[in-house]
Amino acid sequence: MRSYSLIAPAKINLYLEIIGDRPDGYHELAMVLQSINLADKIDIRAIGIETIIVKCDHPQVPPDAGNLAYRAASLLSKQFPDIFARYGGIEITIHKHIPVAAGLAGGSTNAAAVLVGLDLMWELGLTQRELQELGAQLGSDVPFCISGGTALATGRGEILSPLPNVEGLYVVLAKYKNLSVSTPWAYRTYRQEFGHTYVSESSGQESSRERVHSGPIVSAIAHHNNSEIGKLLHNDLEKIVLPEYPQILKLREAFASQNILGTMMSGSGPTVFALTESQAQAESVQAAVKATMADPELDFWIATFNPNGIAIAH
Ligand code: C5P
Repeated sequence: MRSYSLIAPAKINLYLEIIGDRPDGYHELAMVLQSINLADKIDIRAIGIETIIVKCDHPQVPPDAGNLAYRAASLLSKQFPDIFARYGGIEITIHKHIPVAAGLAGGSTNAAAVLVGLDLMWELGLTQRELQELGAQLGSDVPFCISGGTALATGRGEILSPLPNVEGLYVVLAKYKNLSVSTPWAYRTYRQEFGHTYVSESSGQESSRERVHSGPIVSAIAHHNNSEIGKLLHNDLEKIVLPEYPQILKLREAFASQNILGTMMSGSGPTVFALTESQAQAESVQAAVKATMADPELDFWIATFNPNGIAIAH
């Protein structure tokens, strides 16, 4: 086939713990990542000229190498130059539904869709692991976005262990339209403030384990204990982002005052989400927070957990 349409789901962080720093400048993390059914649609098409074209209906999404989807196509075209020449180029059209610069891996999931789509269109037959290794060159969240579902992510975020699917949870998400948080700033500031607590590389596995606290939420997921999952939500970056952005803190407090299982900022923000056990509860939480905040700059979404990552659109 000379064209593919793919569904690229967003992710939320149910858990994000910063363990230490790494020689490559990144941080050693323990995260629980969850795909949600708030998704972009990505169309890829072989075109006559040997070039990469990116089109998007969202003004904040660049059409060039500033776009991770472009970089994914460029990476594969360099990896497989003969096939790229044979197919003659790629047009990528991004239909944006995931908010941009939101802490929901919108750019990473677009790149993941391009890798999966080109593997199919060019009949490369790459394994998921090979696609994820390529994805890790583009960004720490790209490998997870390929496989999706529920996973424990360690290392930079690229070492993935699948976890059992979490069922029966609904997510209410809220984000200020024009607010964005710089991820490098958030990590850099965390290092400045909490670097003294980092686990050193030389400490043995046992002492590292004592300092990593992802065990209880992983166990709650394995036991399908949704109320416990809600209680165990955690994100170290909140310690940096919430004091600096009082609006996000206020939004989180508005969610926390509702009848919910738990609330948390996703990634480095600024999106805040809350978990509920029913669609009706999600709708009433959304209505209540909307009324409390009474701010036209706030956007809301309701989503469910998605059991997979990139999928072909039907
Ligand atoms: O990998 P990605 O490009 O998505 O990461 C964005 C930024 O987040 C990095 O430049 C780095 O500042 C920070 N980061 C980090 N440690 C990680 C993942 C991301 O410090 N494990």
